[in-house]
Amino acid sequence: MTTEIINRRKFLALISAAGLAGLAPGISLAREQMPKRRIPGTNEYLPIIGLGSTKPVGQIADRGTAPIASVLRTLVENGGSVVDTWPRNQPNDEGFGRVINEPDLRDALFVTSKIDRTGKQAGIDQFRQTQRLYQRNTLDLLQVFNLTDVETQWSTLMDLKAAGEARYIGVTVSSQGLYDQLATFVRREQPDFVQVNYSITERGAEQRMLPMLQDKGIGVIINRPFMNGDYFRKIGDRPLPEWAAEFDCESWAQFSLKYILPHPAITCVLTETTKPKHMAENARAAFGRMPDQAQRARMRDVISSV
Ligand SMILES: NC(=O)c1ccc[n+]([C@@H]2O[C@H](COP(=O)([O-])OP(=O)(O)OC[C@H]3O[C@@H](n4cnc5c(N)ncnc54)[C@H](OP(=O)(O)O)[C@@H]3O)[C@@H](O)[C@H]2O)c1
Repeated sequence: MTTEIINRRKFLALISAAGLAGLAPGISLAREQMPKRRIPGTNEYLPIIGLGSTKPVGQIADRGTAPIASVLRTLVENGGSVVDTWPRNQPNDEGFGRVINEPDLRDALFVTSKIDRTGKQAGIDQFRQTQRLYQRNTLDLLQVFNLTDVETQWSTLMDLKAAGEARYIGVTVSSQGLYDQLATFVRREQPDFVQVNYSITERGAEQRMLPMLQDKGIGVIINRPFMNGDYFRKIGDRPLPEWAAEFDCESWAQFSLKYILPHPAITCVLTETTKPKHMAENARAAFGRMPDQAQRARMRDVISSV
C-alpha cells in the first residue's frame, strides 16, 4: 500500500477547491490561495473577494489607466479574479479594455458587465459596444442591471449565452425595493447569478433573498458591502473591538466583509476601491478564521449601537 503524504499547500488547495476554506473557522490560509466557492451547477470555482470597478473605471478619462491597472494587479496578486463592470462612456471603457488585455491580466480575470438599456436593439447595441471596447468576444458574466426592462433583455441574454458570447448570465439589484420583482423573476427563470446588496448594515437580503437563491442553486454576487462608503462614515474613528482578532479581522473593512462571507448562499463579494492598499486589505478578509453565529450576533450588536 502506498501512503501519499499531503503537504500543507496541497491540503489547503484541496479544501479551498472544495469551497470549504471560507467556511472553516480555525484554518489560516494567509499567504495561501484565496478561498474559492463553486458556481452552482458547474465545476468552476470563483475566489470569494472581487472588485467592483465603477469608481476606478470612471476615473480613467481623467487619471489614465495606471490606477485601475494597479488595483487589478493587486486583486490578482492576492488571489482574486472577479471584476464587475458596467458600461459607461467610450474613453473609460476603451481604457479599461486596454488594461484587461495586458498580457499578465488577459487570462487572470473573470470579467462581468451589464445591460442597462430599455428596448431589444438598444440592449444588443450596448453589448456589441462592450465587446468592442473590452476587445472580448465572450464575457464571463453578463447581467441585466437593476432588472431594467428585464422581460426584453433576458431573452437577449439567453441568446448570447447560447451563442457563446456570455459564459454566464444573471441580473442585479442594489436595493431592497427591487426584491419583490427579483423574487418573481427568480421563481420563473434560472439565472446563473444574481447580484444583490448585502452587508452588516444592510441585512434585508438575509431573510428571504439569500435563502431563496441558495435553494434554487443560483450563484450570488454581493454588492454594497460598505454601502458605497457610508459604512465608514457611520463608523467614524471608533476603535475596532479587540475580539475581532478572534476571527483574524484587522480593520473595519474586514469586519464588514467577514460578516458577509460565512453566509453559505454567497459565491463572491465585490468591494469597490480606487486604492491598491484597500484592495489588498479587502482581499485579506477572505483568509483566516471567519466569525461563527455567536460572533456574528455580537458584530450586529456593535453596528446597531453605532
Ligand atoms: N445595481 C448594480 O448592478 C450595482 C449597484 C451598486 C454596486 N454595484 C457593484 O458593486 C460594486 C461595489 O460598489 P458599492 O456601492 O457596493 O461600493 P462599496 O464596495 O460598498 O464601497 C466603496 C467605498 O468604500 C471605500 N473602501 C473600499 N475599501 C475600503 C477600505 N479597505 N478601507 C476604507 N475604505 C474603503 C471606497 O473608497 P476608496 O476608493 O477610497 O477605497 C469607496 O468609497 C460596484 O463597483 C459595482 O460593481 C452594482
